[in-house]
Amino acid sequence: MDDFRGKWLDLVAAADSEAALEEVRLQALGKKGEIALRMRELGQMSPEERMTVAPALNALRDEVAAAIIAKKQAFQDAALDERLRAEWLDVTLPVRPRRQGSIHPITQVTEEVTQIFAAMGYAVAEGPQVEDDWHNFDALNIAPEHPARQEHDTFYMARAQGDNRAPHVLRTHTSPVQIRAMQGQGAPLRVICPGRVFRADYDQTHSPMFHQVEGLAIDRDITMANLKWTLEEFLKAFFEVPSVDLRFRASHFPFTEPSAEVDVRCSWENGTLKLGEGDSWLEILGSGMVHPKVLQAGGIDPNEWQGFAFGMGIDRIAMLKYGIPDLRAFFESDLRWLRHYGFGALEVPTLAGGL
Ligand code: DAH
Repeated sequence: MDDFRGKWLDLVAAADSEAALEEVRLQALGKKGEIALRMRELGQMSPEERMTVAPALNALRDEVAAAIIAKKQAFQDAALDERLRAEWLDVTLPVRPRRQGSIHPITQVTEEVTQIFAAMGYAVAEGPQVEDDWHNFDALNIAPEHPARQEHDTFYMARAQGDNRAPHVLRTHTSPVQIRAMQGQGAPLRVICPGRVFRADYDQTHSPMFHQVEGLAIDRDITMANLKWTLEEFLKAFFEVPSVDLRFRASHFPFTEPSAEVDVRCSWENGTLKLGEGDSWLEILGSGMVHPKVLQAGGIDPNEWQGFAFGMGIDRIAMLKYGIPDLRAFFESDLRWLRHYGFGALEVPTLAGGL
């Protein structure tokens, strides 16, 4: 019996792979394995003989099985160690400095604008780019026959044949988000609404898709003076200049009364723009006091609340701040342009954020 035991333990010890080990297991413990055969022979033994041989065989079988399991575990541990060694990765190595991508100037400027207004207590509001006719026009006091509808060069969505409702539009401005914000949040309210807008227009300063940011502040006693201060603070922070000089020109928008277009004093020296000084004026946005009908459309009582609104082209202020001459290049996805004008992912959006 000792020889028999020694033979199997030696064979287990000698197995040099999981496959070889499995072979030994079948030979020893399999249905037709040698230990099984020995057990079958118990039947022919005398009871006395069986009393000593049977427990010894049982013990031997358990011992060999345990040895095989231990050895198998050792093989698996070794394989895992090997794999861990092969797949080791030095995560402390610095990444390659090659720049894979960059932040698009529109994204960057949207972040900058958001950060400056957030510091003044404005939240960001959003609305759909495919907008219904009511939010894009009627609610903003632009009646169906209003000439502004033609001026906007609107893209209309198709309607199913026989459906005579006004078609949805690609929103022509971010102003419909004013209505949605008023409806959703009520007064008082301070939001900016950055986003894509669409008009059928294409040349060096127009693209069929461009970006605006809308501002809206509603409270009980908001006046044009608050509008002026807010715009001054914004423009100083955005263009990173110590002071700006603004000119409010009387204008007309259906959704504001009174309305003003805002110009900022500037100079162009050798083609570079400087804000806050000089004899030129640069038109930068449209604004005004929210029309009572617009407040009403937003579900806000114009006898109790009033406020200002403004709308500004994000692409335009991005071009001015970063000296980008052609609007269309923003949307051409030219890698050389993106590398030149793009921003690093870890750059802080604006100086104002760090102050
Ligand atoms: N929605 C106007 C446009 O697209 C911009 C604008 C002007 C928005 C005056 C305003 C505003 O909120 O008060 O040209």
